[in-house]
Amino acid sequence: MDLCREGRFIGKTVIVTGGGTGIGKRVAKDLYDEGASVHILGRRLEKLLEARRDASDPTASDDGRFFCYECDVSDDRRVGEVFDQIKDSTGHAYGLVNNAAINPSRNEITETELEDWRATLEVNLTGAFNCSKAAVEQMLEGGGGSIVNISSVGGLKAFRTRTSYNASKFGMIGLTESLALDYARENIRANAVCPGYVATELTAPLFEKMGEEKFGALVGAHAMGRLGRPEEVSRAVLFLLSEEASFITGVALPVDGGYLLKG
Ligand SMILES: NC(=O)c1ccc[n+]([C@@H]2O[C@H](COP(=O)([O-])OP(=O)(O)OC[C@H]3O[C@@H](n4cnc5c(N)ncnc54)[C@H](OP(=O)(O)O)[C@@H]3O)[C@@H](O)[C@H]2O)c1
Repeated sequence: MDLCREGRFIGKTVIVTGGGTGIGKRVAKDLYDEGASVHILGRRLEKLLEARRDASDPTASDDGRFFCYECDVSDDRRVGEVFDQIKDSTGHAYGLVNNAAINPSRNEITETELEDWRATLEVNLTGAFNCSKAAVEQMLEGGGGSIVNISSVGGLKAFRTRTSYNASKFGMIGLTESLALDYARENIRANAVCPGYVATELTAPLFEKMGEEKFGALVGAHAMGRLGRPEEVSRAVLFLLSEEASFITGVALPVDGGYLLKG
Protein backbone atom coordinates (compact mmCIF):
# COMPACT_ATOMS: atom_id res chain seq x y z
CA MET A 1 0.00 0.00 0.00
CA ASP A 2 1.55 3.30 -1.03
CA LEU A 3 0.29 6.02 1.28
CA CYS A 4 2.66 8.72 0.02
CA ARG A 5 0.82 11.49 -1.73
CA GLU A 6 2.55 12.99 -4.70
CA GLY A 7 4.09 16.36 -4.70
CA ARG A 8 4.33 17.60 -1.12
CA PHE A 9 7.98 18.51 -1.68
CA ILE A 10 8.07 19.75 -5.25
CA GLY A 11 10.72 22.45 -5.58
CA LYS A 12 12.04 21.90 -2.04
CA THR A 13 15.61 21.08 -1.07
CA VAL A 14 15.77 18.36 1.56
CA ILE A 15 18.89 16.85 3.16
CA VAL A 16 18.96 13.37 4.69
CA THR A 17 22.01 12.30 6.70
CA GLY A 18 22.80 8.59 6.62
CA GLY A 19 20.67 8.35 3.47
CA GLY A 20 22.61 5.44 1.97
CA THR A 21 21.05 2.63 4.00
CA GLY A 22 18.11 1.61 6.17
CA ILE A 23 15.55 4.15 7.27
CA GLY A 24 17.39 7.11 5.73
CA LYS A 25 17.52 5.39 2.35
CA ARG A 26 13.76 4.90 2.41
CA VAL A 27 13.13 8.49 3.54
CA ALA A 28 15.30 9.76 0.67
CA LYS A 29 13.42 7.62 -1.87
CA ASP A 30 10.01 8.76 -0.60
CA LEU A 31 11.11 12.40 -0.69
CA TYR A 32 12.35 11.94 -4.24
CA ASP A 33 9.05 10.34 -5.23
CA GLU A 34 7.23 13.35 -3.81
CA GLY A 35 9.19 15.82 -5.85
CA ALA A 36 11.96 17.00 -3.51
CA SER A 37 15.51 17.77 -4.55
CA VAL A 38 17.15 15.20 -2.29
CA HIS A 39 20.70 15.43 -0.91
CA ILE A 40 22.03 12.44 1.01
CA LEU A 41 25.15 12.40 3.21
CA GLY A 42 27.16 9.47 4.52
CA ARG A 43 30.70 8.13 4.84
CA ARG A 44 30.45 5.36 2.22
CA LEU A 45 29.98 6.84 -1.22
CA GLU A 46 29.15 3.45 -2.76
CA LYS A 47 26.12 3.08 -0.46
CA LEU A 48 24.92 6.58 -1.34
CA LEU A 49 25.24 5.91 -5.06
CA GLU A 50 23.39 2.62 -4.64
CA ALA A 51 20.59 4.45 -2.82
CA ARG A 52 20.36 6.94 -5.67
CA ARG A 53 20.24 4.12 -8.23
CA ASP A 54 17.52 2.32 -6.28
CA ALA A 55 15.44 5.43 -5.67
CA SER A 56 15.37 7.25 -8.93
CA ASP A 57 13.84 6.31 -12.23
CA PRO A 58 16.79 4.96 -14.29
CA THR A 59 15.43 6.70 -17.36
CA ALA A 60 15.44 9.99 -15.49
CA SER A 61 18.46 9.42 -13.23
CA ASP A 62 20.13 12.56 -14.45
CA ASP A 63 17.21 14.88 -13.74
CA GLY A 64 19.19 16.82 -11.15
CA ARG A 65 17.11 15.96 -8.11
CA PHE A 66 19.20 13.34 -6.27
CA PHE A 67 22.67 14.20 -4.97
CA CYS A 68 25.22 12.24 -2.92
CA TYR A 69 27.97 13.59 -0.67
CA GLU A 70 30.70 11.66 1.07
CA CYS A 71 30.53 13.43 4.41
CA ASP A 72 31.14 12.56 8.04
CA VAL A 73 28.52 14.59 9.87
CA SER A 74 30.77 14.95 12.90
CA ASP A 75 33.20 17.02 10.77
CA ASP A 76 31.81 20.55 10.98
CA ARG A 77 34.10 21.93 8.27
CA ARG A 78 33.03 19.26 5.76
CA VAL A 79 29.37 19.73 6.71
CA GLY A 80 29.74 23.47 6.02
CA GLU A 81 31.25 22.77 2.57
CA VAL A 82 28.52 20.30 1.68
CA PHE A 83 25.69 22.62 2.74
CA ASP A 84 27.21 25.41 0.63
CA GLN A 85 27.28 23.06 -2.38
CA ILE A 86 23.69 22.04 -1.72
CA LYS A 87 22.50 25.64 -1.66
CA ASP A 88 24.40 26.39 -4.88
CA SER A 89 22.85 23.42 -6.68
CA THR A 90 19.14 23.43 -5.74
CA GLY A 91 18.65 26.40 -3.42
CA HIS A 92 18.43 26.89 0.33
CA ALA A 93 17.43 24.00 2.56
CA TYR A 94 13.74 23.55 3.30
CA GLY A 95 14.07 20.24 5.11
CA LEU A 96 16.67 18.36 7.12
CA VAL A 97 16.44 14.82 8.43
CA ASN A 98 19.13 14.10 11.02
CA ASN A 99 19.18 10.34 10.67
CA ALA A 100 22.88 9.31 10.72
CA ALA A 101 23.79 7.31 13.79
CA ILE A 102 26.05 4.62 15.16
CA ASN A 103 25.81 2.30 18.15
CA PRO A 104 29.27 0.80 18.64
CA SER A 105 28.85 -0.20 22.27
CA ARG A 106 25.82 -1.93 23.73
CA ASN A 107 27.10 -1.92 27.29
CA GLU A 108 26.61 -0.59 30.77
CA ILE A 109 28.91 2.22 31.83
CA THR A 110 31.67 0.14 33.41
CA GLU A 111 32.08 -1.76 30.13
CA THR A 112 31.79 1.31 27.89
CA GLU A 113 35.06 2.55 26.42
CA LEU A 114 35.46 6.33 26.44
CA GLU A 115 36.31 6.10 22.75
CA ASP A 116 32.92 4.51 21.97
CA TRP A 117 31.06 7.02 24.15
CA ARG A 118 32.79 9.88 22.32
CA ALA A 119 32.19 8.41 18.87
CA THR A 120 28.48 7.87 19.61
CA LEU A 121 27.96 11.41 20.87
CA GLU A 122 30.06 12.88 18.04
CA VAL A 123 28.04 11.23 15.28
CA ASN A 124 24.54 11.02 16.75
CA LEU A 125 24.39 14.32 18.58
CA THR A 126 27.20 16.60 17.38
CA GLY A 127 26.45 15.49 13.81
CA ALA A 128 22.84 16.62 14.27
CA PHE A 129 24.09 19.88 15.78
CA ASN A 130 26.45 20.53 12.82
CA CYS A 131 23.80 19.85 10.20
CA SER A 132 21.05 21.72 12.05
CA LYS A 133 23.28 24.77 12.41
CA ALA A 134 24.10 24.81 8.71
CA ALA A 135 20.47 24.16 7.75
CA VAL A 136 18.96 26.79 10.05
CA GLU A 137 21.20 29.45 8.51
CA GLN A 138 19.73 28.62 5.10
CA MET A 139 16.18 28.25 6.43
CA LEU A 140 16.36 31.74 7.95
CA GLU A 141 17.33 33.13 4.54
CA GLY A 142 14.63 31.09 2.84
CA GLY A 143 11.80 32.11 5.18
CA GLY A 144 11.34 28.82 7.02
CA GLY A 145 11.87 25.10 7.05
CA SER A 146 11.40 21.86 8.90
CA ILE A 147 13.84 19.62 10.76
CA VAL A 148 13.15 16.04 11.76
CA ASN A 149 15.55 14.35 14.13
CA ILE A 150 15.52 10.57 14.16
CA SER A 151 15.82 9.74 17.83
CA SER A 152 14.57 6.38 19.13
CA VAL A 153 12.30 4.82 21.71
CA GLY A 154 15.68 4.76 23.46
CA GLY A 155 15.53 8.58 23.46
CA LEU A 156 12.38 8.56 25.59
CA LYS A 157 13.06 5.63 27.85
CA ALA A 158 16.37 4.09 28.90
CA PHE A 159 17.19 0.52 27.88
CA ARG A 160 19.62 -1.60 29.82
CA THR A 161 23.19 -1.62 28.48
CA ARG A 162 22.77 1.36 26.15
CA THR A 163 24.76 4.04 28.03
CA SER A 164 26.09 5.99 25.04
CA TYR A 165 23.20 5.41 22.65
CA ASN A 166 20.56 6.37 25.22
CA ALA A 167 22.45 9.54 26.13
CA SER A 168 22.80 10.54 22.47
CA LYS A 169 19.15 9.87 21.66
CA PHE A 170 17.82 11.66 24.77
CA GLY A 171 20.12 14.51 23.71
CA MET A 172 18.45 14.66 20.32
CA ILE A 173 15.09 15.26 21.96
CA GLY A 174 16.62 18.17 23.89
CA LEU A 175 18.14 19.54 20.69
CA THR A 176 14.76 19.22 18.97
CA GLU A 177 12.93 21.16 21.68
CA SER A 178 15.61 23.82 21.79
CA LEU A 179 15.48 24.37 18.01
CA ALA A 180 11.68 24.39 18.07
CA LEU A 181 11.58 27.09 20.74
CA ASP A 182 14.30 29.29 19.30
CA TYR A 183 12.97 29.37 15.74
CA ALA A 184 9.19 29.01 16.10
CA ARG A 185 8.69 32.67 15.15
CA GLU A 186 10.90 32.25 12.08
CA ASN A 187 8.66 29.52 10.69
CA ILE A 188 11.24 26.83 11.31
CA ARG A 189 9.77 23.72 12.94
CA ALA A 190 11.73 20.93 14.62
CA ASN A 191 10.34 17.56 15.62
CA ALA A 192 11.67 14.13 16.49
CA VAL A 193 10.60 10.66 15.41
CA CYS A 194 11.30 7.80 17.82
CA PRO A 195 11.22 4.43 16.07
CA GLY A 196 10.85 1.07 17.74
CA TYR A 197 13.02 -1.75 16.39
CA VAL A 198 13.45 -1.99 12.62
CA ALA A 199 15.70 -4.54 10.87
CA THR A 200 18.60 -2.54 9.35
CA GLU A 201 22.43 -2.50 9.31
CA LEU A 202 22.32 -0.86 12.73
CA THR A 203 20.34 -3.61 14.41
CA ALA A 204 21.81 -6.54 12.43
CA PRO A 205 24.71 -7.19 14.89
CA LEU A 206 22.26 -7.18 17.80
CA PHE A 207 19.76 -9.50 16.10
CA GLU A 208 22.54 -11.85 14.97
CA LYS A 209 23.86 -12.16 18.51
CA MET A 210 20.44 -12.95 20.01
CA GLY A 211 19.13 -16.45 20.16
CA GLU A 212 15.66 -17.18 18.77
CA GLU A 213 14.09 -16.84 22.19
CA LYS A 214 15.52 -13.40 22.93
CA PHE A 215 14.65 -12.20 19.45
CA GLY A 216 11.08 -13.41 19.94
CA ALA A 217 10.89 -11.51 23.22
CA LEU A 218 12.15 -8.35 21.54
CA VAL A 219 9.57 -8.63 18.78
CA GLY A 220 6.90 -9.35 21.40
CA ALA A 221 7.89 -6.23 23.33
CA HIS A 222 6.17 -4.26 20.58
CA ALA A 223 2.45 -4.33 21.45
CA MET A 224 1.70 -5.02 17.79
CA GLY A 225 3.88 -8.15 17.94
CA ARG A 226 6.20 -7.28 15.07
CA LEU A 227 9.15 -5.07 14.14
CA GLY A 228 8.69 -1.80 12.29
CA ARG A 229 9.46 -1.28 8.62
CA PRO A 230 11.55 1.57 7.15
CA GLU A 231 8.57 2.82 5.13
CA GLU A 232 6.48 3.13 8.30
CA VAL A 233 9.08 5.38 9.88
CA SER A 234 9.48 7.27 6.62
CA ARG A 235 5.78 8.12 6.41
CA ALA A 236 5.94 9.79 9.84
CA VAL A 237 9.09 11.67 8.86
CA LEU A 238 7.56 13.00 5.65
CA PHE A 239 4.41 14.09 7.48
CA LEU A 240 6.38 16.08 10.06
CA LEU A 241 8.63 17.55 7.39
CA SER A 242 5.70 18.63 5.26
CA GLU A 243 3.35 21.60 5.45
CA GLU A 244 0.65 19.18 6.61
CA ALA A 245 2.32 19.47 10.02
CA SER A 246 2.45 23.28 9.85
CA PHE A 247 1.36 23.79 13.49
CA ILE A 248 3.39 20.95 14.99
CA THR A 249 6.75 21.74 16.52
CA GLY A 250 8.84 20.40 19.39
CA VAL A 251 7.17 16.99 19.56
CA ALA A 252 8.79 13.56 19.81
CA LEU A 253 6.59 11.06 17.98
CA PRO A 254 6.98 7.37 18.79
CA VAL A 255 6.63 5.16 15.70
CA ASP A 256 6.98 1.96 17.65
CA GLY A 257 4.03 -0.41 17.29
CA GLY A 258 3.21 0.20 20.94
CA TYR A 259 6.68 -0.59 22.30
CA LEU A 260 6.59 2.21 24.87
CA LEU A 261 3.05 1.24 25.93
CA LYS A 262 4.33 -2.08 27.17
CA GLY A 263 6.79 -0.34 29.54
N1 LIG B 1 16.80 0.29 13.20
C1 LIG B 1 16.23 0.49 14.37
O1 LIG B 1 15.71 -0.42 15.03
C2 LIG B 1 16.16 1.89 14.94
C3 LIG B 1 15.39 2.11 16.08
C4 LIG B 1 15.32 3.38 16.61
C5 LIG B 1 16.01 4.41 16.03
N2 LIG B 1 16.77 4.18 14.92
C6 LIG B 1 17.47 5.30 14.33
O2 LIG B 1 17.18 5.38 12.95
C7 LIG B 1 18.27 6.02 12.28
C8 LIG B 1 18.66 5.21 11.07
O3 LIG B 1 19.20 3.98 11.49
P1 LIG B 1 19.07 2.64 10.66
O4 LIG B 1 18.45 1.66 11.56
O5 LIG B 1 18.49 2.91 9.33
O6 LIG B 1 20.60 2.20 10.56
P2 LIG B 1 21.66 2.25 9.38
O7 LIG B 1 21.16 1.55 8.19
O8 LIG B 1 22.93 1.78 10.01
O9 LIG B 1 21.77 3.80 9.05
C9 LIG B 1 22.66 4.68 9.67
C10 LIG B 1 23.28 5.54 8.58
O10 LIG B 1 24.10 6.54 9.19
C11 LIG B 1 25.26 6.69 8.39
N3 LIG B 1 26.33 7.22 9.23
C12 LIG B 1 26.90 6.62 10.31
N4 LIG B 1 27.89 7.39 10.77
C13 LIG B 1 27.92 8.50 10.01
C14 LIG B 1 28.72 9.67 9.99
N5 LIG B 1 29.71 9.86 10.89
N6 LIG B 1 28.49 10.62 9.06
C15 LIG B 1 27.50 10.44 8.15
N7 LIG B 1 26.71 9.35 8.09
C16 LIG B 1 26.94 8.40 9.02
C17 LIG B 1 25.56 5.29 7.87
O11 LIG B 1 26.29 5.34 6.65
P3 LIG B 1 27.89 5.29 6.60
O12 LIG B 1 28.31 4.17 7.51
O13 LIG B 1 28.20 5.02 5.17
O14 LIG B 1 28.36 6.63 7.04
C18 LIG B 1 24.17 4.75 7.63
O15 LIG B 1 23.75 5.01 6.32
C19 LIG B 1 19.36 6.18 13.32
O16 LIG B 1 19.33 7.48 13.84
C20 LIG B 1 18.98 5.18 14.39
O17 LIG B 1 19.50 5.51 15.64
C21 LIG B 1 16.85 2.94 14.36
